[in-house]
Parts: sequence; C-alpha cells; structure tokens
Amino acid sequence: MTLTVLGVESSCDDTGAALVRLANGRAEILSNIVADQSELHAPFGGVVPELAARAHAEKLDLCVAEALAQSGLTLADVDAIAVTAGPGLIGGVMSGVMCAKGLSAATGLPLVGVNHLAGHALTPRLTDQLAFPYLMLLVSGGHCQLLIAEGPEDFTRLGGTIDDAPGEAFDKTARLLGLPQPGGPSVEKEARDGNAARFAFPRPLLDRPGCDMSFSGLKTALLRQRDKLVADQEGLTRQDRADLCAGFQAAVSDVLREKTRRAIETYLEQDPKTPALAVAGGVAANQSMRAALQALCDEMGLRFTAPPLALCTDNAAMIAYAGAERFLAGARDGLDLSARPRWPLDQANAGILGGGRKGPKA
Ligand code: KG4
Ligand code: ZN
Repeated sequence: MTLTVLGVESSCDDTGAALVRLANGRAEILSNIVADQSELHAPFGGVVPELAARAHAEKLDLCVAEALAQSGLTLADVDAIAVTAGPGLIGGVMSGVMCAKGLSAATGLPLVGVNHLAGHALTPRLTDQLAFPYLMLLVSGGHCQLLIAEGPEDFTRLGGTIDDAPGEAFDKTARLLGLPQPGGPSVEKEARDGNAARFAFPRPLLDRPGCDMSFSGLKTALLRQRDKLVADQEGLTRQDRADLCAGFQAAVSDVLREKTRRAIETYLEQDPKTPALAVAGGVAANQSMRAALQALCDEMGLRFTAPPLALCTDNAAMIAYAGAERFLAGARDGLDLSARPRWPLDQANAGILGGGRKGPKA
C-alpha cells in the first residue's frame, strides 16, 4: 500500500509545500519546499503578521507547483491534502487552509487538517521510525513543551514555558548585546570563547516541582549585567559579551536538562519498550543543548534522536507526514475546516499561558 500526501504549511514565517509518500511502513520525502520570509520581516525585528499572511497568499501556489515539479508528480498522483489548521498566526493559517481547500474542491482529493505542533512532535517517526510512546522536547522560537507522544493524535503534555520560548530568549539576548538575528546561532558562537561562571544567572523554576519552565527572567538578568558593565566601564569588551552569552546559554541548558530529566522519570513510569527522547525546533541545533540532552539520555538509558535541522524548523514535510498518519487513522476534514489561532495538543494539560513571541501557541 502506498499513500502520497501533499502537505501545506503557513502558520508563521515560512511558506511550505511538500510531498511525502508512505510505502510499506516507511516514509519518504519526495520534495520539501520552504519559502523563507526572514528578509521581509528583518527591518521590524520580528514577524509582522499582516505581512506574513500576504506573503503566504502570494507564495503558496508557487510552492505547491514547485513541490509537485520536484517530485515529478501531478495532483493526479496525490491521495490526500494535509494542511496546518493551527495553531499559529491566524492570517497565515487561513491562507494555507484556503489554498488547501481550493485544491481539494478542484480535485476532489480528501482534506486533512493538521495541528502544527503534532507535525513537529511526529517528525521523529518520519525521520527515525520512533515507536510510540516516546518523549518529545519541542524547543524553538515559538514553542517550548515536553510531551509524551502516544499516538498520532494522542499527546500528554508534561510541561512547558510559562512565558518566553527558549529561542525567543536567545533572540532577545542577541538583540541586547548587538548581535545579529537569529540570535541562537550568534549567541552560541560568542559563548564558545566565554566563561559561563563569571556572571550569576538564575535557573528559573528549578526550585518548583514539575516540568514547567520560565525564560523571561534570564533576559532581564542579562540586561542588568549588561547595564552594570556599561555603567562601570562605559561599554562591553568582546570578553564581556562572550561571558554573558556563555552564562546565559548555560542557564538555559541547565533548565532544559533538569526539566527534561523530570519528564523522563514520568515517562519511564509507563515502562516503554524502546525508551526514546526526541528533540525538535530551532534551539535543538545548539550543540551544548544537544550534548547535555545526549548525556542525560546515556545516563538514564534512553535513545536520543534529533531530526536534521531542516526538519526541526517549520516545514511542510512534517505536515504531510502528520496528515498521512491522521488519514490512515480515518480522519477526514470537510470544506468547513477552520483555521485556529490556538490549538493545544493536549486539551487536558494545556499550558496556562503558553508562550512565544509569535503569540500564545499552545
Ligand atoms: O523552529 P524555528 O526555526 O522557528 C520557530 O520558532 O518556529 O526556531 C527558530 C529559533 C530562533 O529563535 C533561533 O534563535 C533559535 O531557534 N535557534 C537557536 C540556534 N539556532 C536557531 N537557538 C540556540 N542555539 C542555536 N544554535
Ligand atoms: Zn513550528
């Protein structure tokens, strides 16, 4: 049995279209097109929702055409259309949903709405065939959650940020230190030459039980240290900047490691046959985070997987794959499918505040 799914993604600042084929239990990415909007938003220092929605509307059909062309397929070869129906910036999500509905109405192909977070959370099944249940740490500029993935639509949320997402904290830190965006890679690069112990950064919420996290205080701590240095010596040296970056990065890494350790304890209570932790999201590119999580998994007897970066960040292949899993489970949506700005993966344990510069996501 083969199943070929066209995926469409437009929930934030990347327009995506992809073709994924499932054959004999294996998934293959036939094409994965991402049109990046970062230049469009760069002058504003963040994503401008109205600009994003318009750019998605302009690019979606081009991306779909390119995804088909690269895979050598036509819509006649496609079995279903999967589209991100939320959560995300509502104008962008609507652009994608309208595009997918138009294609579905014109071709008669079934339509499947996908939760963007499920797309991220199911990626390790696409890349590494991970068996349920596995633990997922989703850390990006817009997301921060610890989830147990038990089925294609079955997630238990153990915790997440109550304010900023970690990537957002990296981006703000870079801005405060005059480093280029996106902040994660710039801060990581500076931190390489830094002394993490020079400045005292807090480890927020470590004194409280559970897996919830907070990152906004770190940015405030950094701002104070920076202002103190500027007041004392009229500016920052390269070494000051490197030490601030190293201290900040070590604090984020410690918080993620400890909260993930607690989540692993809860997850292992389920006695999974093949225990595994997967990470996804742009922050998963950070080498010190990866090393900390790898060491934790080695210690606690889990397999550690991190999908390649192109599949960690927003893309349509993950949406096509999650759509394929939903489709196989019998899910179908009609032309009344609606775009949702908020859509927690786990309704029972949705975060109180959720978090991320891109608005409350989950
Ligand atoms: O997943 P992503 O591309 O987009 C969403 O936020 O949805 O993640 C981008 C975020 C940015 O905040 C960026 O600064 C952060 O991931 N990031 C990193 C690194 N590379 C990207 N953070 C820390 N270290 C990195 N090497
Ligand atoms: Zn995302």
